[in-house]
Amino acid sequence: MYQTLLTELENGILRVKVNRPDKLNALNRSVFDDLFLLMDQVESDATIRGVILTGAGPKAFVAGADISEFNSLEKDAAMALAKRGQDCFFRIERCSKPVLAAVNGFALGGGCELAMSCHLRLASENARFGQPEVNLGLIPGYGGTQRLTQLVGKGRALELMISGNMINATEAHRIGLVNHVHPAEALLEEAKKLMETILSKGPAAVGHVIAAVNACGSPNDAGYAEEVRRFGECFGTDEMKEGVSAFLEKRNPRFR
Ligand code: COA
Repeated sequence: MYQTLLTELENGILRVKVNRPDKLNALNRSVFDDLFLLMDQVESDATIRGVILTGAGPKAFVAGADISEFNSLEKDAAMALAKRGQDCFFRIERCSKPVLAAVNGFALGGGCELAMSCHLRLASENARFGQPEVNLGLIPGYGGTQRLTQLVGKGRALELMISGNMINATEAHRIGLVNHVHPAEALLEEAKKLMETILSKGPAAVGHVIAAVNACGSPNDAGYAEEVRRFGECFGTDEMKEGVSAFLEKRNPRFR
């Protein structure tokens, strides 16, 4: 059914792996198509009571949007891409059933944004987080400027987004980006335990809590639209062309 996701349902918990390990599970168009389908399935299938989202392979949760798809994009197409990414992550954030991210390695760019759209985040000790888009002459486009600011506060969010620095799981825990850190081999088991606790509560009440908390930052917020607009502004510029070419050519960018 899915091209890029592996799913396994056990006792009402759907375990979902983003499965492009050779590209560190980067989010290309197929992954987004599959995530939309996944959310349709999760909302409509009564046997699914909660979701644990993780990445295939030992190295990455998701290392970002697929940069190889950026090269040919101009402003309008880039804005459409960001809008679609935001819409997909709103589907996750607004899901009435609990969605946990089990972050098992790199969660960078769109990967960090995906994790932030989940209701809770558990990280393995080897997880790394960051919004490195400025290295590419870009900005986060899938809600990162808004959700990171909500989760960790303006100062810390700005530092991560304008320095492009990566942080480890301990630091991510310290600043409130993740709820818990576990040894890699215990991560999925711990995610399952936490999910079982949540699933033992009133499911309608859990759904109401999620919806009420989401009302703190609704999809109509001007900030999300501003992010799409400014993401689009970056495309087609010399700065972005240099940043993306540098990544694809495996060299450091030379910005003017
Ligand atoms: N988009 C497309 N391809 C990606 C990718 C991304 N976001 N992240 C990693 N890959 C690919 C690499 O190009 C490489 O492919 P190749 O083997 O065909 O050359 C493969 O995944 C493995 O990545 P590699 O860079 O060789 O692994 P590493 O361990 O040396 O470095 C990272 C890991 C995560 C530090 C590095 O891959 C990276 O910086 N990725 C981009 C992160 C990013 O900027 N994300 C935000 C995008 S908006």
